[in-house]
Amino acid sequence: MTQIPDKEIILNAFDMNCVGHINHGLWTHPRDESHRFNELSYWTGLAKTLEQGLFDGLFIADITGVYDVYQGNIDLTLKESIQLPSHDPSTLVSAMAAVTQNLGFGVTVNLSYETPYQFARRFASLDHLTQGRIGWNIVTGYLDSAARLIDQTGLQDHDLRYEQAEEFLSLCYKFWEGSWEHDAVIKDKSQRIFTQPSKVHAIHHQGQFYHSQGVFQVSPSVQRTPVLFQAGASTRGLSFATQHAEAMFIGADQPAKVKQQVEQIRAQARSQGRDPNQLKLLVGISVITAETDELAQQKLAEYISYASPEAGLAHFSSSIGIDLSQFADDEAIPYQKTNSIASVNQRFKSQKITPNDLKAQLKLGGRYPLFVGSGASIATQLIQYLDETGIDGFNLTRTVAPESHHDFIRYVIPELQQRGRYKTAYRQGSLRHKLFQNGDLLPHTHPVEQYRCQPQDTKTASEKAATKVSTLA
Ligand SMILES: Cc1cc2nc3c(=O)[nH]c(=O)nc-3n(C[C@H](O)[C@H](O)[C@H](O)COP(=O)(O)O)c2cc1C
Repeated sequence: MTQIPDKEIILNAFDMNCVGHINHGLWTHPRDESHRFNELSYWTGLAKTLEQGLFDGLFIADITGVYDVYQGNIDLTLKESIQLPSHDPSTLVSAMAAVTQNLGFGVTVNLSYETPYQFARRFASLDHLTQGRIGWNIVTGYLDSAARLIDQTGLQDHDLRYEQAEEFLSLCYKFWEGSWEHDAVIKDKSQRIFTQPSKVHAIHHQGQFYHSQGVFQVSPSVQRTPVLFQAGASTRGLSFATQHAEAMFIGADQPAKVKQQVEQIRAQARSQGRDPNQLKLLVGISVITAETDELAQQKLAEYISYASPEAGLAHFSSSIGIDLSQFADDEAIPYQKTNSIASVNQRFKSQKITPNDLKAQLKLGGRYPLFVGSGASIATQLIQYLDETGIDGFNLTRTVAPESHHDFIRYVIPELQQRGRYKTAYRQGSLRHKLFQNGDLLPHTHPVEQYRCQPQDTKTASEKAATKVSTLA
């Protein structure tokens, strides 16, 4: 029997261009520097740190709108800086790319409030500037406050948001891969031809949500389509994600449930004609680590003394669109259908959960599993979690910033490396090639194929060179 080799763990840092992201209240810790999020040096420093730790990427979450559901106002959101203020994540990328060579960037953009053309142009430009290190986390939003801020209408119906996302994406595919042939740009000074006109094509799109006609303004970038991340978990969300995404975030739960989700996702991807292993599955985690298990427990207690469980509850209220301040601390929260994140709200259908339960769970780690211990013990736990569930890697939240990343790199990474489960050097190439070792472009089995203006050679330049050599030999 052939032995399946142990999977190398994919690791992203999970962050946001704001103060309080997941682990609320820790901004008050004396060593926490997240209040410096509006300074470029905070991000360039983080990018360099992550690259030292050989992180695959920095995944930057984002929301459009504010958390105003808890107590029906934004007072706690402002006091505890619960993702408010929060700044545009894509503004950070060029600066971080300039001080790194390998780190990928997964940037969240809510498509509901973008025009496909402007968005596609921005991300294609970033793919050029990062030399193929850009990814897009496709979200459709879940906040009424955003809808009110932007067009004064309510949030669109959950499933309709995904319909719009399908069309948005197909139009982006046309821009990214259907307008310019890959060899259109020749930069021939002697003939005075920068781009060959016969190789640039107008796209035509008449849809339910968007109309567009003309040529795209950006020449082909390394990856053309950014690496596509998604986190859909509802029935409609899952069908969207398994069709398009290359990496998916699974809302963490008990390992047995995660395993079930993993199997469902891979089966669904297979039924849609995709190679299920071309879909990397990631779970968000929080980690507190130190030299020994005992010191890690002490650090946990110290961090918790600065945490704000109520801020966690306020964040959660907006995620599900229900004001949880209306329930007594020990009262079971009844299920109510809302238009927000369906998959997070779902748990109230089957489980009896009180605000106290949520506060206990959310005080540190948020909705994500919390691992506490020495580097060796964390490495063992992470490997076990990964092997038990069949996922491919983790999105690591920050706790006290940037201390928690330094700790992880110092204590956990060497232990994972010793166990042969984490790279000891970066692979060459684009973010997509690093993740899948299958070239810079999306494979032919991906839905993008139908929008390409010509057959694509999905191999990288170095792979093509290697094939040539072997053909000659
Ligand atoms: C790890 C993870 C990260 C997410 N990050 C964001 C984000 O940055 N912005 C956002 O609007 N939604 C984010 N979401 C929510 C998803 O976009 C999506 O709404 C959610 O997973 C539920 O899917 P559903 O709408 O199909 O129920 C995230 C979800 C997960 C699991």
